[in-house]
Amino acid sequence: MAIHIPEDKLSEIRNTANILDVISERVVLKRAGKDHVGLCPFHSEKTPSFTVSSTKQIFHCFGCGAGGDVFSFLMKYDGISFSEAAQSLARRYGIDLPDRNMSPAQAKAVSLRQQLFDLNREVMGYYTRQLMDPAAGKQARAYLADRGFSPEMIARFSLGFAPDGWDHLVRFFRQQRVSLSLAEQTGLVVPRKSDGFYDRFRNRVIFPIIDMSQQVIGFGGRVMDDSRPKYLNSPETPVYNKSRSLYGAPAARTRARETGAVYIVEGYFDLMALHQHDISNAVATLGTALTADHVQMLKRGFAQKAYLVFDSDEAGLKAAKRSVSLFLNAAMDAAVIVLPKGYDPDSFVFEFGQAAFMEATENALPMIAFLVESAIKSNGLSMEGKLRIISELQEPLMEIQDRLARSIYIQYLAERLGVRESAIRDKLKSIKTASRAPASASASVFDREAGVFPGQTDAPAASMPSEMIRVERQIVSMMLNVPEILPEVEKRNILAYFSDERLCDIARAVLSAPVYGEKDRDRLFNRFESQAHKDMIASLLIRDECRSLDQCELLLCQFINGIEKRENTLLCQIQSAQEKNDDTLLFELLRKKQEQSEGRLRK
Ligand code: CTP
Ligand code: MN
Repeated sequence: MAIHIPEDKLSEIRNTANILDVISERVVLKRAGKDHVGLCPFHSEKTPSFTVSSTKQIFHCFGCGAGGDVFSFLMKYDGISFSEAAQSLARRYGIDLPDRNMSPAQAKAVSLRQQLFDLNREVMGYYTRQLMDPAAGKQARAYLADRGFSPEMIARFSLGFAPDGWDHLVRFFRQQRVSLSLAEQTGLVVPRKSDGFYDRFRNRVIFPIIDMSQQVIGFGGRVMDDSRPKYLNSPETPVYNKSRSLYGAPAARTRARETGAVYIVEGYFDLMALHQHDISNAVATLGTALTADHVQMLKRGFAQKAYLVFDSDEAGLKAAKRSVSLFLNAAMDAAVIVLPKGYDPDSFVFEFGQAAFMEATENALPMIAFLVESAIKSNGLSMEGKLRIISELQEPLMEIQDRLARSIYIQYLAERLGVRESAIRDKLKSIKTASRAPASASASVFDREAGVFPGQTDAPAASMPSEMIRVERQIVSMMLNVPEILPEVEKRNILAYFSDERLCDIARAVLSAPVYGEKDRDRLFNRFESQAHKDMIASLLIRDECRSLDQCELLLCQFINGIEKRENTLLCQIQSAQEKNDDTLLFELLRKKQEQSEGRLRK
């Protein structure tokens, strides 16, 4: 379902877009020599191996191998198609993509997502007009004023009002000639059992939910009295994924980056109240539990430290407990701000002011300390209490995958309870054997790339002859960076000896279209559909091993020598196996030999 973007527009986008701008809007980057580095958004890591080269306009992660150009970055990061990435870049850089370039068929194919974004934006306009309407919005404006919110805040968050009644929005869609089956996909109108549709939000204050690229992805609505449910939210839709969305994210990022910290609160009003008291580095989870995706998003793009400000009630405590492992496993610093009983950030900051909130921030307890302290508070330090505390903390402690971190926390717990560390460890071991295999999402990536990134600490032992592949990589990197060597590569039929197919594909593409400049690099990326190939190309380009022509020839000689040596050893082995009459070994070796020559014939 891609819309057609004419080639000249694409190249305008390519020439205008700067990968450094685009990525640094999403990932915190630091300068490192002529490149920039940061924590990879595509796998979980603690030291930055994600590299962006603005001279080459590519990115590459030395950890997981992800890589590509500005288009592939957006496609991967936002989970969108190529044409959506192009459109998003066009928007970002103010490049017009006139509709008349689209045939009727193409126009029809404009992605559903874009249509839903557009509809949501129109609805946001509709709701804000209702709130501002002297008559219709009167009660809602009074409600907001009564809760202490200024007109500036109401405007900053584009608050709105859904009038009372069953079909205001349905009629609005009809007026706009929007098909109701499309409108239904926004989740804002709901099909009736019999026939037709009704409005999801009725007589509610409306909070539009806006994502990092300024698209309206969903809505929340609150009643203005004690009726139930107090809050109602858009359902999940093709543009609204709750486990990946955080309310207030776009407004929070700048300050989060400046201060290095981000507050996580529960509700719309909590967040707005903080804003109104000049604490704008806050996001809200909106009634869903914090997820690993949320944490990754915050750590990558916002700040290294999170302050959780949950209600001090049971539910808040539970929520804090649940999120411990998320932060620990993402290696993100987290602390819990404990507000006095009965307060949430909204009521706290309105009653005690900004300074008091900052003081509470200073007194925040690191995650595990928070868990230990609250367990002590509820169980006491009697012998039975201590036993209960240890079994309560078993699970969160076991969730910590980082051994060092776990050991530090066990030490803290042991000291606090006056128990020997070894006793706690024994207790943990007893449940460890019973359950769980470590679930590391990135493990498969490393496995797959094992032969490709030897020397990388996270990678398990390579199963391929990794030394060969390392040299193959060097050769392709050289072919990319020193095109003068290409005739020599061709003459010596170097590719015929390659064992890594992906590298061989890329090398062949380079032979047929040498890379001299940015255009050629783009073309090379575009020749491959497979992301694995794109990743590999970026990794080769970014290494930029500058070599003289002499060094290049030397590398080719080494490679050929290596091959010959391998073949010789194989021949020697075959000979000796024959002499020893070891048929099994002989058969095995012959099979290897055959494989090698077949491989060569294939290429
Ligand atoms: N929430 C929700 N659905 C509910 C209740 C709550 O989605 N039925 C979400 C809302 O995003 C809300 C947040 O959880 O902002 C916090 O809920 P709650 O603690 O009930 O909010 P209060 O602080 O009590 O809300 P208010 O201040 O508006 O009374
Ligand atoms: Mn509240």
